[in-house]
Amino acid sequence: MQSTPSIDQFVPESLTKFAYQTFQEGKKVFGVAHKTISDRLTDMVVPERKDKVKSLTPETINKLQQRLSDLEEADWQDAQKGVYPASLLFDNPWSDFFRYYPEVWLDLTQIWQRAQNKEYQKFDSTIDKEGYPAYYLQNFHYQTDGYLSEMSANLYDLQVEILFNGTADAMRRRILAPLKRKLAAFTDVTAQQMRVLDVACGTGRTLRMIRASLPKASLFGTDLSPAYLRKANQLLSEIPGELPQLLQANAEELPYLDNYFHGITSVFLFHELPAEARQRVIEECFRILQPGGTFVICDSMQSIDSPEFQDMMDNFPILFHEPYYRHYTTDHISDRLDKAGFVDIEIQNHFFSKYWVARKPIN
Ligand SMILES: C[S@@+](CC[C@H](N)C(=O)[O-])C[C@H]1O[C@@H](n2cnc3c(N)ncnc32)[C@H](O)[C@@H]1O
Repeated sequence: MQSTPSIDQFVPESLTKFAYQTFQEGKKVFGVAHKTISDRLTDMVVPERKDKVKSLTPETINKLQQRLSDLEEADWQDAQKGVYPASLLFDNPWSDFFRYYPEVWLDLTQIWQRAQNKEYQKFDSTIDKEGYPAYYLQNFHYQTDGYLSEMSANLYDLQVEILFNGTADAMRRRILAPLKRKLAAFTDVTAQQMRVLDVACGTGRTLRMIRASLPKASLFGTDLSPAYLRKANQLLSEIPGELPQLLQANAEELPYLDNYFHGITSVFLFHELPAEARQRVIEECFRILQPGGTFVICDSMQSIDSPEFQDMMDNFPILFHEPYYRHYTTDHISDRLDKAGFVDIEIQNHFFSKYWVARKPIN
């Protein structure tokens, strides 16, 4: 069968880099414009919020811009090195963007209402809330129905892209190089035999990226939200190759055998968990990883090693309902990994995110 030529095969490198930078710049301008308008409207309706939010100093903004360009350079370089195809740099859910962007604005009035009335656990009466841990039943980010409706699943990726000025995917992609590097240690395992699980996979963006990076691996994803899993199934069905197996499960009790996976990833989950749940998730991931297997976590930067961005971290839970975020920013995740038995813990920071790469020892 003849394969379709990809962007990597016929577009000169300089042109691809220029196109990537222009694409990122476009997303940034769009995100900043959206937030400027929505913040002004929100300040009119919920004026007390403005008094609590700290303004960022020009120095902080400069440092942030430097981190942003470093992130984009790292993203570009990883594509050049073949960690993933350059086409992944342009992967964007365009049809969802045009279909659901008006709803992001329409939802704003409900967000204001919840913020004003401090309603953080408000769900539509048709939503079945049984069986979820109490900490999960929250309107994270002031989202309508938290993680438990189709509408929330349809708007989520768009909202995250706007929040991070179009860099959410570039931050997610930073898990791919360490994952691929560490999986290479399984020299006697074929590409098809490699099993990788994404814990709290949400709408499947990370699994899409892992599929591009490891086209033959057996992929698995779990999340607590049925609506997000349905969305993930829809997005992942669009790409060729074997469909990842998706399962509804609490990350604290993963329904897999001991020593099953070669690699496990988890993106933007830990800041939404209370401390004890963070520990239990780490211990579950340790249990189901094969000896020699790798766990890669991506989440928000922390006060511990990014104190220069403290004001931003203070603003985040005020602007978006995030009840466990403040504790997360001071939580020593490395100690938790160590306590569970992980070794060789590496830490990286990219833009607004922090990464832990840890290995389950062979003996
Ligand atoms: C901020 S979203 C991140 C989603 C996705 N990983 C991403 O990169 O966008 C957090 C996700 O964690 C899921 N989640 C939260 N607590 C969970 C738990 N205890 N077990 C499984 N999933 C959970 C939510 O349903 C949601 O999809």
